[in-house]
Amino acid sequence: MLTIVVIHGPNLNMLGRREPEIYGRTTLAEIDAALATRAATAGFRLLSVQSNHEGALVDCLQGEGWTAAGIIINPGALTHYGLALRDALAALATPIIEVHLSNVYRREPFRHTSVIAPVATGQITGLGWRGYVLALEWLIETLAADR
Ligand code: DQA
Repeated sequence: MLTIVVIHGPNLNMLGRREPEIYGRTTLAEIDAALATRAATAGFRLLSVQSNHEGALVDCLQGEGWTAAGIIINPGALTHYGLALRDALAALATPIIEVHLSNVYRREPFRHTSVIAPVATGQITGLGWRGYVLALEWLIETLAADR
């Protein structure tokens, strides 16, 4: 069974409680559950990982990224400066969708730069938790077409 890896960066474990006016009230567990259910109906295994530590995310990508069929990643603040995370993603041939709950381009200038975007296949930003589901739908359709 093909695996889709979902990576959540720093502070995303606080979703639901963290600045809900920006990030919404949906928790990370609820997002992961919605993704796992949809992946299962499409015949994929979903592996979700959250860490507040860049090195742990690099370790995960080195371990799981190479065999993953696709990657969905919300790097949190690492989006804007996480070069080790970017390099770990750049090494992979698998499709990578960068997701942000908020529209980073409508926020503070430091959020307008993503060091991840140049190594990602595409980016979804500002659509809340549904952005993850849309990323998964794209992967499911694209991977099915490639089979
Ligand atoms: C975020 C946007 C980032 O700028 C921020 O640091 C986050 C969350 C988002 O999902 O909107 O932690 O990636």
